[in-house]
This record gives sequence, C-alpha cells and structure tokens, in this order.
Amino acid sequence: MRILLLTALSAHLASSVLVVGTFFMLLLAGPSRAPTARRWEGAMVVWGRLLLLVALGSGIVWLLVRTALFEGRAQAALEPRAVLHAVLDTWPGLIWLARHGILVILAAFLAIRSDLTERRDWIAARVEALALGALALALMSASSHAAAISPGTALTVAIDACHLLGTGVWLGGLVALGALLRAASRDADADDRAHAVITARRFSRVALVAMLALMGSGVLNALAQVENIAALVGTPHGRLLLAKVAVLVPILGLAAVNRRRLLPALPGPEAMRRLVAFVGVEAMLALVLLVLAAAMTLTTPARHAEPVWPLPVRLSLDTPLDGSATRWRALLASQLAVLGAVALIASFFSLRRRAPLLAGALALAAVAAAVGLPPFVVDAYPTTYRRPLRTYHATSIASGSAIYWGQCAACHHGTPADLRSASTSRRHAGELFWLVSHGRPERGMPAFENRLEEAQRWDVINFIRALGTAAGSKSLGAQVQLDGAWLIAPDFTISVGPLAPGALRDYRGRRMVLLVLYTLPGSRARISELARKYNLLSTLGVEIIAVPMQTSADAIRELGASPPVLFPVVTDGNAAIIATYGMFASGPHAELLIDRQGYVRAIWRDDTGEIQVQVERLNEEKSVPPFPDDHVH
Ligand code: HEC
Repeated sequence: MRILLLTALSAHLASSVLVVGTFFMLLLAGPSRAPTARRWEGAMVVWGRLLLLVALGSGIVWLLVRTALFEGRAQAALEPRAVLHAVLDTWPGLIWLARHGILVILAAFLAIRSDLTERRDWIAARVEALALGALALALMSASSHAAAISPGTALTVAIDACHLLGTGVWLGGLVALGALLRAASRDADADDRAHAVITARRFSRVALVAMLALMGSGVLNALAQVENIAALVGTPHGRLLLAKVAVLVPILGLAAVNRRRLLPALPGPEAMRRLVAFVGVEAMLALVLLVLAAAMTLTTPARHAEPVWPLPVRLSLDTPLDGSATRWRALLASQLAVLGAVALIASFFSLRRRAPLLAGALALAAVAAAVGLPPFVVDAYPTTYRRPLRTYHATSIASGSAIYWGQCAACHHGTPADLRSASTSRRHAGELFWLVSHGRPERGMPAFENRLEEAQRWDVINFIRALGTAAGSKSLGAQVQLDGAWLIAPDFTISVGPLAPGALRDYRGRRMVLLVLYTLPGSRARISELARKYNLLSTLGVEIIAVPMQTSADAIRELGASPPVLFPVVTDGNAAIIATYGMFASGPHAELLIDRQGYVRAIWRDDTGEIQVQVERLNEEKSVPPFPDDHVH
C-alpha cells in the first residue's frame, strides 16, 4: 500500500512539476516560425497534455490509496462515501479538490485547439497555461508538512511553494530544453540551431536563479522541519534529506560543466551532442530527487520523529577545557584552522595554483579536526537525542523520587557514583535513559529495562535532573541575582476545589508566581500578611499560590476567614509539589519567587522575605531569557 502511495505521489509530483516547466520553456523560447521550433512546440503541447493525464490519473490513485489508509481498510478506496468523506471533510482533501479542479480546467483548455497565429493570442494562451499549472503546483504546499508548522505557517508555506515552483521551472524546463536541443542537433535541422542556442542560453540564466531559490528555500525548509543534526542523521525524514543533498551534488557538477564549458562552445555539433546527453542525465537525477521528495512528504517530519543516533560518539561542547594539554590542543587546532581558511580564500583568487591550494586547505582542516576535536568527543547511544516521554512536572519528579530512594539510592547516594556529579548532569536525558535501561553490568550498574516501565525510567531521570539542580539551588537566596535565570521551576497542576485545574506554566509570559509552602499553625501570621498584601502584589504582576505541607481535608477552612485568602490554595496533589519543591527549600515554611519565564529566582527559607523589593528588581530586569523547554535535556 505504501509503495503504491509513493508511486502515485511521485508520478503526480513529477507530472505537476513538468507541466509548469514545459509551459515556462515555451514562453521563454518565444514564438518562432522556424520549422524545428514549431515542431518542438507542437510536441511540447502534446507532452503537456500527456503530463496532465498522468497528473490527474495519479492524483486519483493517490486519493483512493490515502482514503484506504485513512480508513484502515483496503475496500474503502472503492466506497464513494469514504472517498467523498476524505475529499470534503479534511483539509488535505479540500486542497486536493481545488488542485485537481485547476488541472481539469487546464486540460480542457489544452484540448481545445485554437488558432494561435497572432503573437498576442499565443502569449496569452501560454501565460494562462503556465499560471494554471503553477497555481496547481504551488497549492500542494498548503497541505504539506510546511502547513503544519505554527507559528509562522504562512511563511513556511510560502517557502515551500517557492521550492515547488523553483523545481517546476528548473526541472520541467530542463526536460523541455533537452527535447529542443535534441531536435536541433539532428543534422537535417542545422539551420534552426540559432533558436535552440539562444533558448539554451536564456534558460541557463533562469536556471541559475531558480537553483539559488531552490537551495535557499530548501535550506529554510530543512531548518523548519529538521531543526537539528540529530534529527537529520537519526530520522528517516532527515536521512531522505541527506540523500537528496547527495543526489544534488552531481547535478550541480553537471550544471556547472554545462554552463562553463558546453554553452560557450555552442552551436558546435560536438558540444551540442554532449549538452543533450548531460541535460538528459541531469533530468534523470532530478527525477530521483522528486521521488525522494515524495517519500519525504510521506514520512513523519524529523522534528516530530524520535531520532535514533547512529554513531557510538558525538561532539559535546559542554566538555570543560581543563588540563593544559587540552588547552594546547585547542590552541594548535584553531591556528591550523585559520591557516586552512587562508589557503581556502587564496585558492579562490589564485588562477594557477587553485587545485594545490584547495587540497592544502582541506588537508589543514582535516589535521585541525584530528588535533582539536578528540577532547570534545563523548560516548553516545541510540537514544541520546530521544525526547523524554514525561515532561518536567512535579508528579513525574515525585514518582521518580520514590523509585530513586527505593531502587537507586543504596548504590548512588553519596557514593563515588553520585548522580549529582557534574559529569552526570552534562549527559543528555536520552543518554541517562540508555544507561538506566541497559545498565553497565560489567561495572556494577544493573539494567532496569525489565524492572521499570519506560515512563518510570523517564520519571527517575526527571528526578535526577531535579536532584542535580537542587544541589546548586543552595546558592539562591533572598536576593534576586540579575541575569541569573537558570533554575527551571518544575511545572505542577493547580487544582482548587471545583474549578477546572490549571498549571504553573499557564502563568508563563504573563505573571510572576510566589509559591508559598506553609505549615499551620506556624505560618498563620505570614499567610494573613500575604492575604492583606495580595492586591498590591497583584498590581506588581505577582500571583500567589499557597501549598500546605501537610494534607488535610479542611486546609482551606483552617486558614480562617479574616483577612480573606483570595489566592489559590492547592490541596489536591500538594504532596507532589512539596516533594519536588522541598528539594530546593526544606523546612516548615518556604517561599519561592518564579519569574515570568518560569525560572526560580529567589528562595526564602523562612517567612520574613521582602517580596516587594525583589519583585520590583525583576520588573526592572532588561534581558529576558527564553522560556525553558517542557522536557529536560
Ligand atoms: C547495584 C548498584 C546500583 C544500583 C541499584 C543502581 N546503580 Fe546506577 N550505577 C551503578 C554503578 C556502579 C555505576 C557506575 C558505572 C560506571 O562506572 O560506568 C552506575 C552508573 C549509573 C549511571 C551513569 C552515570 C554517569 O554519568 O555515568 C546512571 C544514570 C545510573 N547509574 C542511574 C541509576 C538509576 C536511575 C538507578 C535506579 C533505578 C540505579 N542507577 C541503580 C550502580 C548501581
């Protein structure tokens, strides 16, 4: 089924692309009275009709197969109700309908033979065909992966459309040009070569622009869809992209030879024949690109897929540069790299020694890498870049805590294998996941793959992260350190009585949060004071959230009615919050000030904090750190 879908989609994509390029080339070549050109034009219009038939046919097959996959049954492809549902009730279906409507109009338009002897009629007819074909092609991006990116959907769709149209002009034009050159290179038609040569030169200029647009939009597309190296080398989508780049390299090589060697030698018969052959090879490679592109649209975009890291090592820039040997290495490597860059620049300007200079530059770069990189190479595992299954949330940390104290602490807490060490905190969460799942039996670390569920393993990793930051949180005190946002406040659920539950993260970008962990009766005076100051703090942009340390059914009533407590008092799930935040501030009463981005900025381990002064400091802070990720890294 998948193969059929890929075949249909590739055929559809290729024919839609070729239609655009064919009509573009007809316009670029312009009307001509020469017999070869007229014959070529006639052949191109027939070719255009054929392409439209293929586009419509493969489009229908594509729709039917997609319906079957969508419904999960093969028969659904032949049930009118199911197909109508897929077309009319889904966004990709509506786009499909619009595009195929346009293709039918274009086909009808080409089927009517009209008299195009007038130059104006000729141009109007060709422009119309090109516009319809281009519209049908560009609309494809409205239901592509690009349309699923938000924010910035309009931009990513526009970039994708630009990529498609660039492909249309370049690849479609290439095939049409190949046909023209072939026709003109036959000896009998030698008198018509001038027209073909002029067209080839014009196309060469356009193709350069189209290729630059293609590569530019391709890079932007990749940045939006793939996002990082792990997704590029570790997901099927990313690897298809790498394959595309690998096919692109010989295409660019051929294009460069065509442009620099063969075009200037036209209309020599030898150059003409070689150009025909090269253009043919280029077009074949480009069709391979299209199949890869179609396969990419059928795979999960890399940024949503779980990358599987293929190598046993990776580069880590977090590695500390300690030890003079490492520093000497880094220095030597950087100097070699600079020399390499100088050689590279020189090779561009030198006319005669270009090749040796370029080879020298590459050799210097290789030696620099061999000298400088080893200290940054660290072990890596297939799951290194896996995204945690569980977010950095108090409930996850609390259940991780129970697992840790039950199953890990005996070997790990306060021993040489302490998980609070800097070397453990430098590891990616996905690496910890691998180590916990598979263990290192030869060094005494058991495997937990069969003893803990996957979610439990991620819980314990969230806990290890919290444990690591808790050690550092000792340096956070009553004073807000400007530009010192690093302690991510784990998210938690705020459920108060019958109201719909909210979350700490709902305040992000809007308000600061003063998290008050309290114990009665000791905290009563402080809670009353905060209740009185609530309005003032609210105006300064602070929400207060109070969490009782001991669980009691009457927690809210116990606070008393005067002064009224108007801020949320979280009684459901308070144990998880206390277990998590208690790691940063233990004691019967503690207050933590969380800034608008979601970082803990001040911790009071008693009830005497001058909240207002610190809040005003935060309000004046200029630099705003990015929002922390919901998952640990
Ligand atoms: C029987 C003792 C033992 C138990 C139980 C144990 N570990 Fe370990 N663990 C070790 C030893 C020993 C090492 C060091 C292995 C090495 O030197 O590479 C280790 C290494 C690790 C590492 C790698 C640290 C690093 O940065 O290299 C992680 C992560 C880890 N353990 C997590 C856990 C977790 C989570 C649990 C509980 C679910 C657990 N361990 C239970 C003994 C144990």
